[in-house]
Amino acid sequence: PTGLLSDTLGRPLHDLRISVTDRCNFRCVYCMPREVFDKDYVFLPHSALLTFEEITRLAKVFIAHGVHKIRLTGGEPLLRKNIEKLIAMLSALKTPDGQEIDLTLTTNGALLAKKAQALKDAGLKRVTVSLDAIDETIFKQMNDADFPVSDVLHGLDVAHAVGLAPIKVNMVVKRGVNDQEILPMARYFKDSPYILRFIEYMDVGASNGWKMDEVVPSAEVIARIQSAFAMEAISANYAGETAQRWRYTDEGGGEIGVISSVTQAFCGDCSRARLSTEGKLYTCLFATEGHDLRGLLRNELSSESSTSEASDAELATVIAQLWRTREDRYSQLRSQNTEGLTSTRKKVEMSYIGG
Ligand code: GTP
Ligand code: 5AD
Ligand code: SF4
Ligand code: SF4
Repeated sequence: PTGLLSDTLGRPLHDLRISVTDRCNFRCVYCMPREVFDKDYVFLPHSALLTFEEITRLAKVFIAHGVHKIRLTGGEPLLRKNIEKLIAMLSALKTPDGQEIDLTLTTNGALLAKKAQALKDAGLKRVTVSLDAIDETIFKQMNDADFPVSDVLHGLDVAHAVGLAPIKVNMVVKRGVNDQEILPMARYFKDSPYILRFIEYMDVGASNGWKMDEVVPSAEVIARIQSAFAMEAISANYAGETAQRWRYTDEGGGEIGVISSVTQAFCGDCSRARLSTEGKLYTCLFATEGHDLRGLLRNELSSESSTSEASDAELATVIAQLWRTREDRYSQLRSQNTEGLTSTRKKVEMSYIGG
């Protein structure tokens, strides 16, 4: 019961983002503010997490339905024990027409130097590393865990040296906190092997106290960089790409990207599904409810009819049904009604759903 899926807005399912842990060794102010994620915060117990076998089993079903890109996220995915084992299991999967999966992960880089070789050996293709400032003081203000910039830069070097490519660097821009780092970051990564991307600070979750005036619109980011370097817009790599791409017009300058989920929502061709740490399927980053796939896998659901664990065919049917009825376009709706939507919804946290 497979075949290509399309949701109510005609969008295919191409991308699966899997959160492998809700924990993180950073406390980024826009994601896991320390006041909320303190020593009393209750993270998921190990038994709640999908096992590597469960993740792989679900991934196979998604791939049969058209997924050809899988991104591991968190929390911090490199904190998940033996993550390279999961990478090896996933990298062995092929699309129905025999292609390899675009397998990648988004990490804060703290453990990257230590893990890059093992990740590469296990079949990881590329990585995206978050880095919100090149200035030590500002970076520490952003990560709120006293992590130095040099650890992340060293992680990038090692990842590059072992052949993970392309490597992207994500910078979330929060006005008044790190926006003075836009140009220094652009300057630092220009002419480097890394693709720097500036991300508009989003109203994900319920704990970061998001305000519209803390968002620096991508148009402003581009204008600030253009005051120093000539750039031109270039076309997307694929339909539904999160980033708009720009390249420096000088030889070898490389490219940057801007991710404008607030000022220019890209819901129109959003092909991403998200699997939370405990196995709930979310069809939007801003969803309030997920669908419990772990329950199906483990037969924990109290439905009288389910007496044995679900078969792959049953899982495929459930996933197809969820995608076919999908209507999500939160960011587009938010741009029409910023205050209303943001304050009334009970959204799940980024560290749980995986960015
Ligand atoms: P590439 O495959 O390398 O283009 O990666 P990506 O941009 O899809 O993923 P990444 O994890 O690097 O995410 C970059 C930023 O875009 C993060 O802030 C994500 O939270 C955000 N993002 C990713 N997908 C979506 C989405 O579907 N909707 C919204 N609103 N933001 C998203
Ligand atoms: N707004 C925008 N991006 C965010 N990220 C985490 N929280 C937010 C937010 N509120 C970014 C991380 C990482 C990516 C997966 O999502 O920095 O690069
Ligand atoms: Fe951790 Fe990434 Fe969230 Fe920062 S943005 S707290 S590194 S999960
Ligand atoms: Fe996709 Fe939801 Fe993001 Fe829109 S807000 S791009 S529908 S995940």
